[in-house]
Amino acid sequence: MAKYLILLLLVSILGAATSTPSRSCNQVYSVIDYGAVGDGDTDDTQAFKDAWKDVCKSSSCSPIIQVPGGKTFLLQPLTFNGECKPGQIIFQVDGTITAPSDPNDWNCHGNKYCKQWITFDEVANLVIRGSGTVDGRGSTWWERHSSCKGHKHKDKRVCGKKPTGLTISHSQNVHLEGLTFKDSPQMHVAFDRAEWVYASNLTIQAPGDSPNTDGIHLQHAKNIFIDHSRIMTGDDCISIGDGSSQINISRIACGPGHGISIGSLGIDGENETVEDVHVSFVVFTETTNGARIKTWQGGKGFARNIVFENIRSEGARNPIIIDQYYCDHKHCTEHSSAVKISNIRYENIYGTSRRKPAVHIACSKAVPCTDILLNNIHLEAVDDDDDDGDEPSAFCSNVQGHAMGHVFPPLPCLS
Ligand SMILES: *[C@@H]1O[C@H](CO)[C@@H](O)[C@H](O)[C@H]1NC(C)=O
Ligand SMILES: *[C@@H]1O[C@H](CO)[C@@H](O)[C@H](O)[C@H]1NC(C)=O
Ligand SMILES: *[C@@H]1O[C@H](CO)[C@@H](O)[C@H](O)[C@H]1NC(C)=O
Repeated sequence: MAKYLILLLLVSILGAATSTPSRSCNQVYSVIDYGAVGDGDTDDTQAFKDAWKDVCKSSSCSPIIQVPGGKTFLLQPLTFNGECKPGQIIFQVDGTITAPSDPNDWNCHGNKYCKQWITFDEVANLVIRGSGTVDGRGSTWWERHSSCKGHKHKDKRVCGKKPTGLTISHSQNVHLEGLTFKDSPQMHVAFDRAEWVYASNLTIQAPGDSPNTDGIHLQHAKNIFIDHSRIMTGDDCISIGDGSSQINISRIACGPGHGISIGSLGIDGENETVEDVHVSFVVFTETTNGARIKTWQGGKGFARNIVFENIRSEGARNPIIIDQYYCDHKHCTEHSSAVKISNIRYENIYGTSRRKPAVHIACSKAVPCTDILLNNIHLEAVDDDDDDGDEPSAFCSNVQGHAMGHVFPPLPCLS
């Protein structure tokens, strides 16, 4: 009798397992089923909103929003709010998502500026993945931006803060994988007040002369992993802003662009902090900076516990740079306070540098940099036709620390 009961139990468990369709966990919600057209012209914003609304209500354990390949979906600025579902949501993007090409066609809900294009806010357990492209069509913004300086009747929308491509804010446990981001009006991807974000296998691409088109920007971001990505932009490949900590960046091809930057920190006397950053296996190709830390005069706070290692420079200018006199306009004066920079390690950095000095460490007179370590550095000048000569140089001031192993060019201020 007992045997029979166990058999019965077994049969019913197996029966339940096989009769539950496996797709119930990954129920698919295609934006097409919500009326998206995907011809690149029709506004598909509402379809995306409706699909998200249903996914939010879904009882499926890990539902998938599908943006199918072979189509182009035009989206106005929109926010996906994640305060809806405790489980995982998968955003599968294989098609192209595109923004309106003319800044005046952007629907910014009555706001003077469009600060963000696509936003995921307050999400937890989100996976955004696929082979698709997110195209911000920023070229018109950039062209008009060039006429902003000194012009009397400024185009308010274009001359103010331009929109970020994808923003992930107030969120945790987010994976971003495989996508291509291109031509954002401003920075391409921002993690703002986000934790446990894993970004990998991304391609980010904008012309080398496009203004402020950072690849990935971090702000108040913690436990962020950025891995195995190619970033070619007109500004920092990755910029690490105030309030960020526990950041791991590896296997990045950067360039054109302005390098991987911590800061700029401490603008207008602000107290800003960044700590525990690890950057490794990066190639900088023809970038204007490489491994960079920049702070403004007069700031407070710190940048500390930072490692840049296993880095190759292919003709970057200033492959290694700490600049505590950062200033992007004319009227900057020296102050008696500065963001404190300490415990910074540069290790195994080699290759070529386009312009002297290959190593530039300019620390504040009032608040010198401490515990700066350089170990195994070899940077040669790019062999080209200009008259600079072939000897790269190094500059440093107000630095306390050590040079170890082979360090070329030698740093006069480190023993
Ligand atoms: C990277 O993403 C592409 C799609 O963009 C995909 O085809 C490829 O398999 C991914 N590679 C890895 C290593 O995940
Ligand atoms: C950073 O990530 C890489 C690859 O994802 C890993 O190999 C490495 O151990 C991590 N480093 C730290 C300091 O967490
Ligand atoms: C700056 O902020 C950090 C972290 O929030 C804090 O620990 C520190 O005391 C602040 N420093 C000043 C001078 O306000």
